[in-house]
Amino acid sequence: LGLNDAAKAAKKLYFGTATNADQWNDTTYYDILKDDAEFGQITPANVMKWFDTEPEPGVFNFTDGDVIANFAKRTGKKLRGHNCVWYNQLPGWLQNGTFTRAELALIVERHCFELVNHYRGQVYSWDVINEPFNDDGTWRSDIFYNTLNTTYIPLALRAARLADPGAKLYINDYNIEGTGAKATALKNLVKDLKQHGVPIDGVGIQGHMIVGELPTTIQQNMEEFTALGIEVAVTELDIRFDALPPTAEGLAQQKADYETFVQACNAVPRCVGVTVWDFTDKFSWVPSTFPGQGAACPWDENYTKKPAYDGIIEGF
Ligand code: XIL
Repeated sequence: LGLNDAAKAAKKLYFGTATNADQWNDTTYYDILKDDAEFGQITPANVMKWFDTEPEPGVFNFTDGDVIANFAKRTGKKLRGHNCVWYNQLPGWLQNGTFTRAELALIVERHCFELVNHYRGQVYSWDVINEPFNDDGTWRSDIFYNTLNTTYIPLALRAARLADPGAKLYINDYNIEGTGAKATALKNLVKDLKQHGVPIDGVGIQGHMIVGELPTTIQQNMEEFTALGIEVAVTELDIRFDALPPTAEGLAQQKADYETFVQACNAVPRCVGVTVWDFTDKFSWVPSTFPGQGAACPWDENYTKKPAYDGIIEGF
């Protein structure tokens, strides 16, 4: 029995992974990825982001995204769209441009509509908004907030709903795994959106964690989110070592941490599934972003399952 089998046996919709298609010529990688016992859902790690999908204003390119979407269709996996609006990985014309409020509002609306519309009927859930808050719960000062204040949020969500009424619309963020200022800010935003009739179906809890440093309030926090009338999903789970190589003790702690995180989702009925941000240390984003850190995934770089793998199974 694999990870997706375990998730489904626990009445979750899926266990999933992020992926990049340029990794698929590694046949060991590809065989594990496509195995329905392990993964019932995929998220494109990069190719549906703004820089790839609208490289020039009003010029859309879905070639790379389609490769991922077609693989999901062919293999019967659920697809998570990632993402519509994010301050990072923007095309140069947007990153370096100056726009009036009216201009940027149209740009955001057009991007969200065209992107979500292109994949209409193929996507279980969309990260419509990614990482809108600072860690202290204030709004991130990015091009969207600085130009449009908070109005870009309902604008993007409404455009996405219009484009694909069947897709679950999410706001996705990190450092909201436990209760605290950032999670509170997102809860207040969800309440406010619901009060104003803005479509919002879920919160994505990214889950980029450090071994031995999990908050103790993960389940309580998920319960507080779902009490607002939305679902939650763990969208980008990985649990890294901040010093390498891992010791045997460290690997046991990592196993316990994976189990704790999955167990929290398991205990919350409206936590719909868990996605890892790739499954092998060979292709993890961690070492390039956090130099000197890594070994964050359930499979090591040689595709040996780590204790973390069993932690996930035991968590469901
Ligand atoms: C990461 C990708 O995995 C990397 O390949 C890329 O260089 C940077 O972005 N939170 C997110 C993801 O929402 O989009 C990020 O993905 C990881 C952090």
